[in-house]
Amino acid sequence: IDPQKVQLGDGKDKMGTRVRVFGRVHRERRQKENMFITLRDGYGFMQVILQGQLAKTYDALTLTRETSMEILGELREVPEGAHAPNGRELHADYYVIHPGWQAAGGDDAITNRVSKDTEHATLLDLRHLTLRGETASKVLIVRDAVEWAFHVAYKELRFRKVSPPALVQTMVEGGATLFGLPYYNEEAFLTQSSQLYLETCLPSMGDVYCIEKSFRAEKSLTRRHLAEYTHVEAELDFVHFDDLLEHLESIMCRVLEVALEDPTIEQYVKDLNPEFRMPERPFMRMKYSEAINWLVEHNIENEDGEPHKFGDDIAEAAERKMTDIINRPIFLTHFPTEIKAFYMLKDKEDPRVTESVDCLMPGVGEIVGGSMRIDQHEELMAAFKREGIDPTSYYWYTDQRKYGSSPHGGYGLGLERFLAWLCKQHTVRDTCLYPRYFGRCKP
Ligand code: 4AD
Ligand code: MG
Repeated sequence: IDPQKVQLGDGKDKMGTRVRVFGRVHRERRQKENMFITLRDGYGFMQVILQGQLAKTYDALTLTRETSMEILGELREVPEGAHAPNGRELHADYYVIHPGWQAAGGDDAITNRVSKDTEHATLLDLRHLTLRGETASKVLIVRDAVEWAFHVAYKELRFRKVSPPALVQTMVEGGATLFGLPYYNEEAFLTQSSQLYLETCLPSMGDVYCIEKSFRAEKSLTRRHLAEYTHVEAELDFVHFDDLLEHLESIMCRVLEVALEDPTIEQYVKDLNPEFRMPERPFMRMKYSEAINWLVEHNIENEDGEPHKFGDDIAEAAERKMTDIINRPIFLTHFPTEIKAFYMLKDKEDPRVTESVDCLMPGVGEIVGGSMRIDQHEELMAAFKREGIDPTSYYWYTDQRKYGSSPHGGYGLGLERFLAWLCKQHTVRDTCLYPRYFGRCKP
């Protein structure tokens, strides 16, 4: 009988039986008469032994890393103390390298081009190959689990998923970072955020979320800005600011729980970020005005090299310094109206500030931005005026305030930043498949 195909991480119930595996040569070494191959298939690794004649064929003698192979053999437990993934190895009795499966370029073609000293830009040019590395593949596999966990967590809370358009004619987060494009005979933009569209779904669908791409024409090169990123956004109906904060805390913790339930994901997070601990709830709450005082007390200056004062934007460097010193998740709330977006609701007690929140994480800083939304028509029109935005093209948004408005709020979470924190990666360029940022639109 034809032996069954098993994926490399599977086969725990197949010990002592003959199986068929497929994969690429991750590593190989010769020891006396034998050849040891570590095979990789994206589900795991398996050690394969070629013995006797099998180790002496032309294919075996010229075997290169990354070559694809089909191998048949018996799965056996390895002796105590011997190192092999999952404590087992495949004793091959047959293998084949089909036409075209040989990796080109001689031995170690990929590893020769990519070493520890290779420049990051070169690594990114070769991203299609470096994806095969252990760190990159672990990060992307954790990413898959986290994205899935968001769907699970939202479904548990009965949120409905929608798919807002990517081609739009309105901005959300300021004109400076809009990507424009010709759209038939009109002008259009790539969306900066799906928030305004999510708000229009509340009356008929209840609480909603989406996981879509957002686009920002960021002109600065930083570790946490991409031109195209994955934006997890949600909008909640009939809530107050405290409800929004509690929801945010619980969704983030639930997503981590769900993702880490899978032992492979738990192991990968441990490998990538050995110090990772589940965040403690409740997250620390800190008002913007308290943060300004904190920065002054700790002699952390603003972008002009002066002590921070009320009304200043807290720039990336200062924000990260503060978060790293405090070293736990922070809900930074109540930002001044002037430095925040037009749609944010003012605080009833202190109209200088808004009911807004950024969630800051050690190592990254801001990973979430959210707020309560202005729900009164007149107030919204005044906000457009204050910001100098022509409300005409926003008619579908402002109409919401005429036909049954409600107290509501929502947020956007940058998936790449969330992963940079979880997987302890220096930059968001390493937590997405093919990063797009100023000066890079390939591969
Ligand atoms: O703070 P932002 O700009 O907020 C909004 O877009 C809201 N309209 C979202 C909402 O309320 N539905 O962006 C939200 C998050 C940030 O906290 C950050 O994590 C991420 O999106 N983000 C970026 N990630 C990577 N590259 C960029 N250029 C990003 N800009 C924002
Ligand atoms: Mg923000």
